[in-house]
Amino acid sequence: MDIIEKLKWRYATKKFSNKKIRLGELDHVLEAANLTATSYGLQAFKIIVVDDPEVRKALRQHGQDQSQITDSSHLLVLCRYLDVTDEIIQAFAERIGQAKSKSAEQIDLYAKKIQTKVATYKATGKFEEWLNRQVYIVLGNLMTTCAVLDIDACPMEGFVPEKFDEILQLKEQNLASTVLLPIGYRSANDAYQYKQKVRKDLEDLLIFM
Ligand SMILES: Cc1cc2nc3c(=O)[nH]c(=O)nc-3n(C[C@H](O)[C@H](O)[C@H](O)COP(=O)(O)O)c2cc1C
Repeated sequence: MDIIEKLKWRYATKKFSNKKIRLGELDHVLEAANLTATSYGLQAFKIIVVDDPEVRKALRQHGQDQSQITDSSHLLVLCRYLDVTDEIIQAFAERIGQAKSKSAEQIDLYAKKIQTKVATYKATGKFEEWLNRQVYIVLGNLMTTCAVLDIDACPMEGFVPEKFDEILQLKEQNLASTVLLPIGYRSANDAYQYKQKVRKDLEDLLIFM
């Protein structure tokens, strides 16, 4: 497999066919998301996998009427945690600590370190941005994974997050929608797949020092 060929094949799909992704393959994609690197390994995100046509119809009204929301095989709504409490961090540190056979003291120290960092992000107004950044790493990982598996996708910020949060009842689950990734298979009628991919010349992108 040539990764560059796969990434050239990938494009932001505007029109999906009605072909569904097989469940085993969907699991594969989602497992790749779970393997994404996150700050401290905290994984302060969740992915809502929306299949239900009625829910997707309701979401589309708040997604600039973009057809990918209803017509893709599955709509992935990538969400950040709304809050990361001391309790969440403690439970995380304990899970990691137990898996790695750490002492209670080491676990508490690790929890305290993360709690202090999170408190600083909150105090300096950087908390939400910090969480969003993690979600975008998941997005990139998912997009590359999909390309490798010949699954089409379209990263999407063109939606009203507050409305998505309401319809999917995200606030109640300590979540807020960040970015969308409809996935599935391109329609032969999608003109975008035939367009030239325009990127900078590498010499305009890179600075070697
Ligand atoms: C963060 C982000 C948000 C985007 N939002 C939308 C969107 O709401 N709707 C859409 O059709 N494409 C969206 N795109 C797709 C870009 O327009 C597209 O990736 C870009 O033009 C490059 O084209 P390519 O991905 O086909 O190579 C988004 C892309 C990114 C990375």
